[in-house]
Amino acid sequence: MLNTIAPPDDRLVAFFRKNLLDWSLENPRPMPWKGETDPYKIWLSEIILQQTRVEQGLPYYQKFVAKYPRVQQLADAPEDEVMKLWEGLGYYTRARNLHAAAKFIADELGGIFPNTYEGIRRLKGVGAYTASAIASFAYGLPHAVLDGNVYRVLARFFGIETSTDTPAAQKLFAALAQNLLNPDFPAAHNQAMMDFGATCCTPKQARCPDCPLWSECQAYRMDKVSELPLKSKGLVKKNRLFHYLVFNHQGHVYVRKRSGKDIWRGLWEFPQTDGPVQGADFGASVVRESIPFRQLLTHQAVTAVFFEIDLPDDIPDEIFQNPLFEGCERISRKELKKNIAFPRVIDCYLQNIVLTLN
Ligand code: ADE
Repeated sequence: MLNTIAPPDDRLVAFFRKNLLDWSLENPRPMPWKGETDPYKIWLSEIILQQTRVEQGLPYYQKFVAKYPRVQQLADAPEDEVMKLWEGLGYYTRARNLHAAAKFIADELGGIFPNTYEGIRRLKGVGAYTASAIASFAYGLPHAVLDGNVYRVLARFFGIETSTDTPAAQKLFAALAQNLLNPDFPAAHNQAMMDFGATCCTPKQARCPDCPLWSECQAYRMDKVSELPLKSKGLVKKNRLFHYLVFNHQGHVYVRKRSGKDIWRGLWEFPQTDGPVQGADFGASVVRESIPFRQLLTHQAVTAVFFEIDLPDDIPDEIFQNPLFEGCERISRKELKKNIAFPRVIDCYLQNIVLTLN
């Protein structure tokens, strides 16, 4: 168990700062938000990059900036439109929080983005990491970022053999990261830490021969690079099976918006059942069963099977008494793909049937 991490000596701190910054100058990683001075766009990029790789987030950043160049435009947008633009990126709470925070800035802060760490931290969806990134990139404020990449770099460089999953350990790592932050160049230092962790001091197959810090790296010295940081105990994912019913009627289907307080709130879905699916219950004879589609979430492994049911031309009215149709809207297949956002597992199914059916 780790109780303290001794503050590194001045020579080591100077070595780390200088070599890291020199490395970043020699290894530029162009991204559209680098050098950006508009805090709104920096915030947008940081929310998109939460739990997302740069390559995956980049087109979303471009779409959002093009559609909502200013915070007021994002605040004024309908929620469904924002969710649709976010579709495919996952972790939809981010999109809802982004929209709520834009409204807050527009309505409560007179459209002016907060310019202190605490003010930024108060925005919905902004945690310590994102607040530090925005505060340093937009205003040059001296707040060190700390995320999985930074834990890894620190654990290796200082040879810290403790897992990072206790609050006590996290506090010690945070103090160390803050100690190392270059007070003259907080933005460049934070950006260099992110890029270094993502491209050089990588989780697997770290590129030690190219590393600017190797000569003082404790993990390298002790041949423990692949062991550090110590892994926390893995999360056990719950398996969930969903049966979705895709009722086809003259080029239309029935879908509803999820309203429960879960991660898919605001997204759309087909009616869902746990029981067996009998076409005869709906006056239909044909039921086609899809292959299973899978999606891994943080706490769940979701499997979805889609049952396509062709309703007769004259739909008996009593069908709509069935609770399965509660809250459903009839939507044409064309509109389905254009206007509303689905969880990724449903989107995969829709992409798949475009290839096989339409
Ligand atoms: N991850 C989060 N923020 C980032 C940034 N500004 N650059 C690269 N990766 C990031």
